[in-house]
Amino acid sequence: MSEGEKITLSIIKADVGSMSGHVMPHPDQLAAATKVLAEAKQKGLLIDFYVTHVGDDIQLIMTHRKGVDAPEIHELAWNAFQAAAKVAKELKLYAAGQDLLSDAFSGNVRGLGPGVAEIEMVERKAETVITFHADKTEPGAFNLPIFRIFADPFNTAGLVIDPRMHEGFIFEVYDVFEGKSVKLSAPEEMYDILALIGTPSRYVVRRVYRKSDNLQAAVVSVERLNLIAGKYVGKDDPVAIVRAQHGLPAVGEVLEAFSFPHLVAGWMRGSHHGPLIPVPQRYARVTRFDGPPRVMALGWNIAKGRLIGPVDLFDDVAFDETRKLGVQIAEYMRRHGPFMPHRLGPEEMEYTTLPAVLEKLKDRFVKTEEVHVIKRHSALLSGTSEEEHD
Ligand code: F6R
Ligand code: MG
Ligand code: MG
Repeated sequence: MSEGEKITLSIIKADVGSMSGHVMPHPDQLAAATKVLAEAKQKGLLIDFYVTHVGDDIQLIMTHRKGVDAPEIHELAWNAFQAAAKVAKELKLYAAGQDLLSDAFSGNVRGLGPGVAEIEMVERKAETVITFHADKTEPGAFNLPIFRIFADPFNTAGLVIDPRMHEGFIFEVYDVFEGKSVKLSAPEEMYDILALIGTPSRYVVRRVYRKSDNLQAAVVSVERLNLIAGKYVGKDDPVAIVRAQHGLPAVGEVLEAFSFPHLVAGWMRGSHHGPLIPVPQRYARVTRFDGPPRVMALGWNIAKGRLIGPVDLFDDVAFDETRKLGVQIAEYMRRHGPFMPHRLGPEEMEYTTLPAVLEKLKDRFVKTEEVHVIKRHSALLSGTSEEEHD
């Protein structure tokens, strides 16, 4: 591999069936996916790979020279998921093949169900990378920590101290409903960034670039399965890649952003808010109320495309208090039962099975006096006639 040659780090993930409800895949599924990727490595399509899972999602971490959105790599991932789904069917696991929304592969897994985060890079002298793997939540769950990593000096000391970061970062924010994105500059446009990404169900931080040299520092998967399928088919459990060190936030600054278990959408039936809890791999299985949402962080160095690692980064007692607080928040939220704000609001519930229940009640509503009372009240307030408020 020559100096300056580009390599690509791709994470492609999917839930293709799991044991005991939506808890975790069977080891044979991981083995089946591994076999497919090992063959591709032998043929030279992949430089290296690592197969893991978070909750019920199988995560394929791959390095290669094909660039982002490469059909060969996406097809490879698709085949690995098909192999894992086949095992799931044989073992009669739950939701076998769930995220493979199409029967056939068509050039790119985007829009077919799996989530994708890819970054093409010229390896730095020491290419330190963190891959994040979340379950029971949505891509916007990364908005808050990514903002803190790249724009909040109270999180990232380097923004203040390190001249290479001092100019700030560019945030590419993606509107998942419109399929459009906008690039905004931090710190100057920080309030605009927050005006958007404070609505994580719609606006997702997709990529981050260092302003001084346009180096891509982060990427987040933005697929929203419900929007693709038009109905509830499980949450869009996201993945992210963040490069660290040497003029980028340090590994510890990147992880620091996860020390607050903020509320995210997902959890049971993709319909509830709950804390995002940072966990080591051994806790990457979700049982309480099918959750609560959690995120795993793997630390890597990349050497000519070789994946060196992983380090299970949240396997540190210093995150115990975050986990404890997360569990307390989970308990507090659970006490709300079916009430908002534990249950998601009506806009988000549109993509769940709730509308089918509401539909049944539609014809049982009858008009009541109160309608007139409300109209009269509006008319009084606006100085118009009651009819205008029909
Ligand atoms: C999985 C998930 C789960 C399921 C729940 C009900 O990502 O969100 O909480 O929604 O287990 O699943 P069904 O309706 O298939 O029984
Ligand atoms: Mg699932
Ligand atoms: Mg999942």
